[in-house]
Amino acid sequence: MKIKKILVSVLCFLLVLFTAVGCSFTGNDDNGGNNNGGDGNGGNNVTESEYLGDIYSDYFSIGSTVSTYTLKKYAELYKHFNSVTAEYQMKWGRLESTEGVLTYGDADTLLDWAEANGKGVRGHCLLWYKSLPNWVRQKGNSKTACMQIIDKHVQETVEYFGDRVYCWDVVNEALKNSVSDYDLSSGNFYRTGNEVSGSGTMDWYAYCGVDYIRQAFKSAAEARDKLGLNELELYYNDYALNSPNKREACIRLVQALREEDIPIDGIGMQAHYKLPDYQASPETFLSNFEESVKQFTGLGLNVQITELDIRVYADSQAPAEFDALPHDLEVAQAEMYGGIMEICRKYATPWKEGAGAITNVTTWGVADDSSSWDNEYHKEYPQIFDTEHGYKEAYYKIIDF
Ligand code: GLA
Repeated sequence: MKIKKILVSVLCFLLVLFTAVGCSFTGNDDNGGNNNGGDGNGGNNVTESEYLGDIYSDYFSIGSTVSTYTLKKYAELYKHFNSVTAEYQMKWGRLESTEGVLTYGDADTLLDWAEANGKGVRGHCLLWYKSLPNWVRQKGNSKTACMQIIDKHVQETVEYFGDRVYCWDVVNEALKNSVSDYDLSSGNFYRTGNEVSGSGTMDWYAYCGVDYIRQAFKSAAEARDKLGLNELELYYNDYALNSPNKREACIRLVQALREEDIPIDGIGMQAHYKLPDYQASPETFLSNFEESVKQFTGLGLNVQITELDIRVYADSQAPAEFDALPHDLEVAQAEMYGGIMEICRKYATPWKEGAGAITNVTTWGVADDSSSWDNEYHKEYPQIFDTEHGYKEAYYKIIDF
């Protein structure tokens, strides 16, 4: 009996010893045993060999952008993502630059690659005021003409890509750049006039009012029903939807669709953010972001963060030449990424009966070496991977939960 007791005690002691030794080998002790690297504040023992998509598999899919050019360039980094969005190869200007001549080749290349690599595809985007073929801008010179060409393009595109995409951004950026109190009270919060005046753009609203948005969703839903694509989700996608007035304008747009039983399944919050806007008051920034997610999902809509990136400089403060990303900015950017992702995880399941949820987070771009925000004077370092494709503080922060 006594011997048995001693044996059990020895075994217990050995077990404790082995566990302790084992643990000390799983991580880098420089950061307090936190295997995540980064600033070492806690962690879920994720190893760097795991990919973001897997780490987030209990929450939502994690996406990034692709083009035929980036496929090879970021082949390794793409292993982190289980969803992709075509940067521009599924926009109207690329699919039908000549009327009636449909050029799906590049989009098909992306979809073949995505399928071969087990990634879902967000369809982006069916209707926008930019990236249009010239013939559309010439032909769309009346409401009737606009409605007809929208209907044809949307139905044709949804049918062609079918179930190879899991959702579509049906309409992109139909709301004003920034919505004032006056815009809200007067109901004039749609993008039109001088906000649609750049070269290659089209003022759909001037010809059709909100009906062009209704038409696009109606046509998409019609094609979906025709093909029985029950899983395909239809999104309205825009930027600055974290701002209270633009959020409210977006809700009114959703209501305008619902009044006529036009289906809409979700809101795409682009989330092209600037670090100084967060630093001015992190609490305000995050609570506005959360409030938008809460209100949209509260309407029964799913939310996807469709174009997340965080520029470290306000444009006016940008340094005059290319230089390395200062460490304090990298850490602050990580904190902002971390705060956003924490809220996203919180809404990955419905917060009340009948609520939608966050079902995807996509970064716009992959690594800092090629960001669409860079110009010849300065870089913006908006991504979670650095210019050498290594992990940034932001990467470590978002897996730290
Ligand atoms: C918008 C569009 C994207 C892309 C970016 C520019 O956010 O939705 O498709 O063109 O602008 O980086």
